[in-house]
Amino acid sequence: MKNLEQNIDLTFNYSKADFGEDFLWGVSSSAFQTEGNHDKFGKGASIWDEFSSRKKAILNNDSPNIATNFYENYKDDIKLVKALSIPFFRFSISWSRILPNGTGEINQEGINFYHDVLDACKENNIEPFVTLYHWDLPLELEKKGGWTNRSILEWFEEYTSVCINAFKNKVKYWVVLNEPSVFVGAGYFLGIHAPGKKGINNFLPAMHHSLLCQSIGFKTIKKIDPSAQVGTTFSCTYITPKTYNEKDIKAAERIDTLLNKAFLEPSLGLGYPIATLPFLKHISKYTLKGDEELIKVDFDFIGLQNYTREVVEHHSYTPYLNAKLVPANKRNVDSTLMNWEIHPKSIYMMILKFSEYNGVKKIIITENGASFQDEVKLDIINDEKRVNFIESYLQQVLYAKEKTDKVIGYFVWSLTDNFEWTEGYKQRFGLIYVDYSTQQRIIKKSGVWYKKFLEGK
Ligand code: FCB
Repeated sequence: MKNLEQNIDLTFNYSKADFGEDFLWGVSSSAFQTEGNHDKFGKGASIWDEFSSRKKAILNNDSPNIATNFYENYKDDIKLVKALSIPFFRFSISWSRILPNGTGEINQEGINFYHDVLDACKENNIEPFVTLYHWDLPLELEKKGGWTNRSILEWFEEYTSVCINAFKNKVKYWVVLNEPSVFVGAGYFLGIHAPGKKGINNFLPAMHHSLLCQSIGFKTIKKIDPSAQVGTTFSCTYITPKTYNEKDIKAAERIDTLLNKAFLEPSLGLGYPIATLPFLKHISKYTLKGDEELIKVDFDFIGLQNYTREVVEHHSYTPYLNAKLVPANKRNVDSTLMNWEIHPKSIYMMILKFSEYNGVKKIIITENGASFQDEVKLDIINDEKRVNFIESYLQQVLYAKEKTDKVIGYFVWSLTDNFEWTEGYKQRFGLIYVDYSTQQRIIKKSGVWYKKFLEGK
């Protein structure tokens, strides 16, 4: 493993101390994107295994089968977290590695694996921050309708109990779901993520059931371990209208409601935002008596994940929303390789918006980062752009912190480069470069930047 320390001169506009002593600093990853070995060690298939084997589903036909082989490299990767002086490591558990069929029979090898990962964290003095569900539903459950089937309430409760009973002595921080709006929207409405389902009749039940599971997951964890700190993560995007024209303003309001409110407000007891998005009233088809109560959660913290801003214009032909996004490359703005606008102020705006809710007690930025074309020269990875991205977003987190003491932590996405869903290996978000042909790791300039920052140098 090589790093750049000798070759770079680092400057900081602010310091770790400005965030206060109790601020939580971390780095994040997820099971499907890193573990590889999806068909080994007793693991059952997940919807992403099936989806990624479909023709043209993944850019360049990249296969997730090896990924960063975290399953076999976890010890070294966790040592890297330590080498970068990062106190918190967020990773997720693969449901079908624990329960190959989603329910029932437990795969002891899977349980042992996560024990090993947690032990490695402990040996390195790293606090684990564990996500129960980061998009990789067991395929067997999808065959029964997946998130659209209300039985998922029981399936998820079973999975949660198995995990908490197994790992409660080693994990204090739990995340129930990663970005329900994204896995429901992309997977059950647009059909562009696993399981590739489309339309409102999939979207609405999946949405409702995911929010109920969020609450059930929380309650199940607290019942088994009342001292656990439990949250869930929300993707959020700062939205602005393309023009000040009334129609664009209204269109932006609808998108803002869908992306930033619809998956949060019901949990806070505010109900679905039907006034702005009337199509959500059809959720009543999937609602049972008592759901309004069941859906409420008093989370210890909310994970907020903001990468960008979107500009919205009115568009009559888009069903339900009458709105469309104006992509970054049509707006002449700086953007990342994902074509996401670089807009640091977004994270500031979203922290302030979320902090206005009484029910949101604490906010942790559980993901933030960027993919760029890294400059690779011999063993040196110069990713100045990523350094600038993280530095400027973090500056805005600090500004937000001066306005609200609800924001208590910041985690970079991601530890290593990894399998970026439908984008495969093209997108590299890591602080650590992965050479996929040799599995060699090289710390990028951004990794060194984060390390020095965390060490207060
Ligand atoms: C988030 C996902 C994460 C990763 C980043 C880039 O939406 O939670 O898995 O793909 O985006």
